[in-house]
Amino acid sequence: MFDTLRSVLRFRRFETNSDRRRLTRVANVADLRRLAERRLPGGVFDYIDGGAEDEITLAGNQRAYSDIGLRPRVLRGLSHVDTSAIILGRPSPMPLVLAPTGFTRIADPQGELAVARAAARAGVPYGLSTLSTRSIEEVADASDSVTWGGDGERRLWFQVYTWRDRGLVKEMVERAAECRYEALILTVDLAVLGRRERDVRRGFSLPPKIGLDTIIDGVRHPGWTWKFVRSEPIRFANLSRGGGNDGSTAVSLADFTNSQFRIDLAWDDLEWFRSIWDGPIIVKGIQTVEDAVIARDVGFDAVCLSNHGGRQLDGAPAPIDLVEPCREAVGGDVEIIVDGGSRRGSDMLKARALGADSVMAGRTYLYALGAAGEQGVDFVLDLYRTGLHRTMALCGVDNLGEVHRTLVT
Ligand SMILES: Cc1cc2nc3c(=O)[nH]c(=O)nc-3n(C[C@H](O)[C@H](O)[C@H](O)COP(=O)(O)O)c2cc1C
Repeated sequence: MFDTLRSVLRFRRFETNSDRRRLTRVANVADLRRLAERRLPGGVFDYIDGGAEDEITLAGNQRAYSDIGLRPRVLRGLSHVDTSAIILGRPSPMPLVLAPTGFTRIADPQGELAVARAAARAGVPYGLSTLSTRSIEEVADASDSVTWGGDGERRLWFQVYTWRDRGLVKEMVERAAECRYEALILTVDLAVLGRRERDVRRGFSLPPKIGLDTIIDGVRHPGWTWKFVRSEPIRFANLSRGGGNDGSTAVSLADFTNSQFRIDLAWDDLEWFRSIWDGPIIVKGIQTVEDAVIARDVGFDAVCLSNHGGRQLDGAPAPIDLVEPCREAVGGDVEIIVDGGSRRGSDMLKARALGADSVMAGRTYLYALGAAGEQGVDFVLDLYRTGLHRTMALCGVDNLGEVHRTLVT
């Protein structure tokens, strides 16, 4: 009897590192999301997870990926599978870009430093948000502190808005150039802040205000609270030098951003950015074929189809559904990055088959950061890479150059 039992019993080795221990039971991004929900205070989780109004666009972004089927070819005699891709003209181990997200330290005190290091180890570009909680310089140093996992040099992009205070924007762009950031991402879907109703209900502000509800929530999430109170105050790290509101007082995000955003932004704003930045510029927030064509015509280097992860205009189309018509309309001259709703490596294959060059992802790495810190981000990047590799093998394709429209239904 004991022999029989011994032959079937298998105990996992006890993992002493708590982040790694948690990850041993994680199979996918949905598990990371559930873990993040358990570990983060409700208001923090909802700030990351939520979308605008009825969250129809938020749900649609992910559903649109699940609605795409694959058409696997078999018996192809593959000798290897190569997941590498070209992003902004340079090789990358996989067609993935980490999206800019504001206030990343809300998920983990290391915040953007952890994301930059994990992105560097995986060799994928990371877009730092203007509203980041670690500065342009700190993030460049963090990225340089680890061994770059791709070919060539490290890849950091800096995301900007067409804010009222042009002096402040110019100063940040100059700092990014000095730190050898590779590209600018100009986010254009934020003429005003979308109405994120979960934040409204919770009275959520950035940084979080300490009220009775926050204290109760904090007691129920001691791990997060302990880390939060031991680390230095969260602030808008890029804004402090410019004399703007750096967010070190508890202003609401809506008040601050609404004071900076403009509804009069227009295509010729690009010229101003060209006058202050020599490198590539990506326009993020294109949501129609017509605008993709204009973006190409006015000279953007890449078009990022995006609805801000469903956080701005509810009712906007799922970016993955725009890829094919946009590719047909703009031709092959401009790179297309599709942003929002991706949760698996196979999503990169679907996006490529429809004509995108790469996929941009935000929440997946934020869930990972909230669930298990920097190791969580390494883990989710590995999920993406292995998921793409596996799906390519199962579909009978050995490199992304061989991925065509016929692969998807
Ligand atoms: C918490 C959070 C903060 C964000 N902050 C920014 C930002 O500062 N600038 C920006 O251009 N986009 C921002 N975004 C949008 C992301 O760049 C990206 O478009 C979105 O996360 C993509 O959808 P996904 O989360 O389904 O991948 C944010 C998204 C989230 C979830």
